[in-house]
Amino acid sequence: MDAPSGRPTTARVTIGNENWDFPVRNGTIGPDVLDISKLYAQSGRFTYDPGFTSTASCESKITYIDGDEGVLLYRGFPIEQLAEHGDFLETCYLLLYGELPTPAQKSDFDNRVVHHTMVHEQMMRFFQGFRRDAHPMAVLCGSVGALSAFYHDSTDISDPHQRMVASIRMIAKMPTMAAMAYKYSVGQPFVYPKNDLDYSTNFLRMCFAVPCEEYKPNPVLARAMDRIFILHADHEQNASTSTVRSAGSSGANPFACIAAGIACLWGPAHGGANEAALKMLAEIGTVDRIPEFIKRSKDKDDPFRLMGFGHRVYKHYDPRAKIMQKTCHEVLSETGHKDDPLLEVAMELERIALSDEYFIEKKLYPNVDFYSGITLKAMGFPTTMFTVLFALARTVGWIAQWKEMIEDPSQKISRPRQLYTGSTRRDYVPISTRKS
Ligand code: CMC
Repeated sequence: MDAPSGRPTTARVTIGNENWDFPVRNGTIGPDVLDISKLYAQSGRFTYDPGFTSTASCESKITYIDGDEGVLLYRGFPIEQLAEHGDFLETCYLLLYGELPTPAQKSDFDNRVVHHTMVHEQMMRFFQGFRRDAHPMAVLCGSVGALSAFYHDSTDISDPHQRMVASIRMIAKMPTMAAMAYKYSVGQPFVYPKNDLDYSTNFLRMCFAVPCEEYKPNPVLARAMDRIFILHADHEQNASTSTVRSAGSSGANPFACIAAGIACLWGPAHGGANEAALKMLAEIGTVDRIPEFIKRSKDKDDPFRLMGFGHRVYKHYDPRAKIMQKTCHEVLSETGHKDDPLLEVAMELERIALSDEYFIEKKLYPNVDFYSGITLKAMGFPTTMFTVLFALARTVGWIAQWKEMIEDPSQKISRPRQLYTGSTRRDYVPISTRKS
């Protein structure tokens, strides 16, 4: 059956001689969705979709991606406009509340975030328990998980006020904890937040200030940091966001859910890709070695892939990569690294790959991680911190998606089914009678 718009309202599934009709739901933009939630109840069958490439796991109003056109919208606003004209806390407000703030709302929100930036002093001692050489992501994952032990008064997920307090706390404390993870790894004293600074300047200061010198904020680097945070703030139902939603669907507290998201983000196919991309550029080293690596990336028998290339959703230039490339040039000019050989390798690699039949045919374009590693390195961050910065920025997206899920009356515990291909029923054999 078709709606007046001409779009079908039902989809028919036929198995043998039997038919079932399922509703087709229309989003405001994007492809229509077949609602198969009653498929098992009606037909006794499941669907099979490893990696959820064709499955919408939820309804959401937060972020929209058109992967074919290279479009990314936060609450309807294009990422390019937000990155050019807004700041990160404005983006946080937008993702959490659904609208851009008025000046009064913005100043109130900034004030609320600023007044939650300190962490419980006992957390300082908690950090001392980690090995000095621990990866900062391991430290961040463990310490964010521990937040629920320090802030019991915002773990009741059924209370809207506690949910909002936990959300603000997470956004406010992540920079402090990310900077602590960094300081701990380099053996320097923790730097307390300074609340008269803007979010990104404050974060850079907590990372790079030392007690023996006056810290001079650099507005170009602070703006670049802020823009990097905006670019990474949310990205629809990616692996870590789905992990946060999945963990939250059981009623787990928000701090535990964000720790689960951080763990998922760590993988090289997701948040770890910027670290991997920079390592790859360093391994390539010089422009003349690029063809060898391009060849390896196309070889099915070689596990090597061009890191920072390709995306599950974008089959077009990742819009974040364009802004990242511009930011990269700005930062490298400011820090005096504009002749960095890695930038030269990156630009040439991009040029060669974009004109290579393999990459064109498979629609593999640079993603946000391709230029972010070089940029962050020029800002002074070690590679081990790259994913930590991604986690810091993505926290608001995770929190907004977690809140949306908790507030959705149709929310259910996340529980996918499976196609079982193991042994059928068999009887236990006592060990003494088993043949060797
Ligand atoms: N280099 C060479 N070949 C590639 C690459 C690459 N970077 N990415 C995909 N392919 C090939 C892949 O071998 C496959 O070929 P075939 O069809 O012949 O088997 C085809 O392209 C499709 O790849 P896929 O693995 O089925 O695609 P996917 O959607 O499952 O994977 C991806 C997406 C991002 C995991 C993958 O492109 C990749 O591993 N990229 C490198 C890692 C990376 O940069 N990740 C950052 C993602 S952006 C940050 C974020 O949002 O988290």
